[in-house]
Amino acid sequence: MSVVETTSHQTLKSTNLTPKNQIAIFASGNGSNFEAIAHACAENRLNAKVALLVCDNPDAFVVQRAKKFDIPVFEIQPKNYTTKADYETEIMQILKKYNIDLICLAGYMRLVSDVLLNEYEGKIINIHPSLLPAFKGLNAIQQAFEYGVKLTGVTTHFVDKTMDGGKIIEQVAVSAENCTLEELETRIHAVEHELYVNTIHKLQTHYQL
Ligand code: GRF
Repeated sequence: MSVVETTSHQTLKSTNLTPKNQIAIFASGNGSNFEAIAHACAENRLNAKVALLVCDNPDAFVVQRAKKFDIPVFEIQPKNYTTKADYETEIMQILKKYNIDLICLAGYMRLVSDVLLNEYEGKIINIHPSLLPAFKGLNAIQQAFEYGVKLTGVTTHFVDKTMDGGKIIEQVAVSAENCTLEELETRIHAVEHELYVNTIHKLQTHYQL
């Protein structure tokens, strides 16, 4: 990790850890995308730090992955909150504590609502395993496979109140021909892991987080 020592305002631009690259990942399950991003940061392929995992499911495998990378985990149980606003306010407080600049949803099984969307406008992104707007929601790979499409893919997008809605950032197409569902899942997940890292890099360079 290189830190350029200078007293000019260039310092921030030249320092690997600027204030603009503290990432929180929200996940509820397996966490392979979490690991892909954490790995890219650890190898300095991404000029960013996964500062926090927010997890709404204490049994999720992603929690084990976070421990492996020494990444702090904020476990939160939605059932302990009366309203979604209360739940998100609690999350927001911890995000502030960690100076989070960007929130990446990665298999987070909930809609995000006003408290977080207002505070982190344009700074919450998601990855979905289809070419949106096709095949929104759960089991998107299976939905596409069963529909019989020849081409499906992966989408990264900004998050809004709707399920898998919001402005598309990037898409990569994946052939759905001559494969089983399991093979298609493997193809899609490999593309996801690369695309999510690329998208974060693109946001850092083009969108001035
Ligand atoms: C991925 O397919 C992602 O596109 C979707 O949920 C899945 C999460 O997988 N939003 P993982 O937990 O990152 O392995």
